[in-house]
Amino acid sequence: MKNTVAIYPGSFDPITLGHLDIISRGAKMFNKVIVVVMSNVHKNSGCFTIDERVEMIKKSVSHIENVEVDHFDGLLANYAANKNADVIVKGLRAVTDFEYEFQMALTNKKLNPDVETIFLTTSAENMYLSSSMVKQIASMGGDITDFVPHAIHNDIVKRLKKGD
Ligand code: PNS
Repeated sequence: MKNTVAIYPGSFDPITLGHLDIISRGAKMFNKVIVVVMSNVHKNSGCFTIDERVEMIKKSVSHIENVEVDHFDGLLANYAANKNADVIVKGLRAVTDFEYEFQMALTNKKLNPDVETIFLTTSAENMYLSSSMVKQIASMGGDITDFVPHAIHNDIVKRLKKGD
């Protein structure tokens, strides 16, 4: 797809290899991908601060030229309009993700008819991966090497071991 600006929204608490896979593939499909950290009303305030999440994403995507990182406290449909975005990219892991993602896509389409939601199926090795699993494993001293971007592995381990 040519001349398209895509937004990849999420909580990213923290970014995982599953997220990075979607970002990398999105960056090949679209001219620009804006990764935006947003709040999810169904999740608590989170473990990492918004600034920490943004920093970790920046470190993880520094090798991809056409990716920007941002945060926004508001509606995704409004953010997409502010950025003149054409596409919202989401990753789909399993059937269990589908109903909720479908509801969000339809709602966002109603709020902002100019933006299309596009789903990328996750890579098979990331099917089971989630930020909450990563947090649980790291906080109990488990190995998260295969789950998070190399550039931020130590940041997560240090931060969660300290328990702050
Ligand atoms: O990584 P997540 O937690 O699955 O991401 C969900 C997120 C943050 C993309 C979603 O909750 C969202 O879009 N939040 C912004 C507020 C908003 O627009 N809500 C209405 C969506 S229908």
